[in-house]
Amino acid sequence: MKILMVCLGNICRSPIAQGVLEKKIREKKLDWIVDSVGTSGWHDGEAPDDRAIKATKAVGIDISKQISRKITPDDLDYFDVILTMDSSNYLDVINLCKTPLQKDKVSHMLNFLRPGRNEAVPDPYYHDNFAEVVELLDDAMDAFILAKTS
Ligand code: 4NP
Repeated sequence: MKILMVCLGNICRSPIAQGVLEKKIREKKLDWIVDSVGTSGWHDGEAPDDRAIKATKAVGIDISKQISRKITPDDLDYFDVILTMDSSNYLDVINLCKTPLQKDKVSHMLNFLRPGRNEAVPDPYYHDNFAEVVELLDDAMDAFILAKTS
């Protein structure tokens, strides 16, 4: 299975989600691929935010080698599951979709943890709550793996 994490800048939430899921994939020996993108392209070519690198390093995850990029039309075909962090990302991705099959791939990430609520992962770029977001995404990724493997 190929999973794409999506946020606005691809320097905070989606790189953290990618790093967290990659670690769990390795630990559980799952045959999955993960990548992350932003809807904006504002930080194309940049490494994750230093605060995101530090907060993930504190839980044994290295996201420093990730490079920000903007979502492309090809991503909507290549990936099987597309997980968005908030309603704005969700609508931006849905609006890029050309087919019902592509739309069906897109979900609010936190719906795996708290079904049906369409809750947002708070953006630590503004709130500086990186440790809290790492913990929330860790819980969400556990719920995602459970949903996809049971
Ligand atoms: P992210 O956070 O979408 O979680 O990567 C942001 C990063 C950068 C900006 C906004 C949110 N920005 O305005 O540059």
